[in-house]
Amino acid sequence: NQAEILVARAIFPEVLDVLSSHFKVESNQADEVWSASELTRRMQGKVGALTTGSERIDAALLQANPQLKIVANMAVGFNNFDVPAMTAAGVQATNTPDVLTETTADFGFALLMATARRITESEHFLRAGKWTKWSYDMFAGAEVHGSTIGIIGMGRIGQGIARRAAHGFGMNVIYHNRSRLSPELEAECKARYVGKQELLQTADHVMLVVPYSAESHHTIGAAELALMKPTATLVNIARGGIVDDAALAKALAVGQIAAAGLDVFEGEPQVHPDLLKVPNVVLTPHIASATVKTRRAMAQLAADNLVTYLTRGQALTPLNTLPGAAA
Ligand code: GLV
Ligand code: GLV
Repeated sequence: NQAEILVARAIFPEVLDVLSSHFKVESNQADEVWSASELTRRMQGKVGALTTGSERIDAALLQANPQLKIVANMAVGFNNFDVPAMTAAGVQATNTPDVLTETTADFGFALLMATARRITESEHFLRAGKWTKWSYDMFAGAEVHGSTIGIIGMGRIGQGIARRAAHGFGMNVIYHNRSRLSPELEAECKARYVGKQELLQTADHVMLVVPYSAESHHTIGAAELALMKPTATLVNIARGGIVDDAALAKALAVGQIAAAGLDVFEGEPQVHPDLLKVPNVVLTPHIASATVKTRRAMAQLAADNLVTYLTRGQALTPLNTLPGAAA
């Protein structure tokens, strides 16, 4: 009479094997994208589920599945979870913090470098057979070392980017966040706290690493883009919806800012068609945490949360505290 769990998307087979040694597992190794009603139906009889950022866990799904005890998200972000509804339903929510911090900070820097130095744009030019001669201003981009980076969202990943910027590239680091870092962390990251307006007006590169919420929706829209330097770049490794993609496409098309690097999009995997039309944007398909080692660690942590919670009542990286739970 083994507990049944659902693994809602394809994951590493060896992690699936670990889960299968503890539970009766229904998995989706075919990696079909299930509709909300299909997900709700597949959840029937399951006490636990492993999800990715693509599966929405909301009140309707919870109501249809009162047997559910835990959903483990294989992502640090959890805007696909209605956490208050999960708490009300007595469902433990977990994410995968820490294991992806440095890998994701690396990618933020990679996207910044690619954007400022026009790497993908110049590669497209070369591949298209347009490279016929050297010229003095060909793909001349923006300086990275020694410039000012403005980081919006100074969690663990933001701090990782700040360390790279300050210690590796001699950059001047300014940041904006809901709360200030401790003086010790500010010193370690060589980061100075500023208001959002000052950040947008003075940064040569703006890096978005803020979690998605109703408050952070369209943190960057037309008004904010208008404050930025015409030579500035914008990088979003946070979530779709933090940037107003239509407004950004317009700003890029008219040269209101120089360039953007985007790993996340409003309504992804759809990408705003106007973004696909502008050359001065680097586009990647939500891969900031995608190294083999880190994705494996994320899957393992999500699986470990299911095992420890369902066997011992303790999650490793809980997002909510349930009434009556062990402290
Ligand atoms: C990826 O976007 C994550 O939240 O881990
Ligand atoms: C968010 O959780 C982060 O690590 O920045």
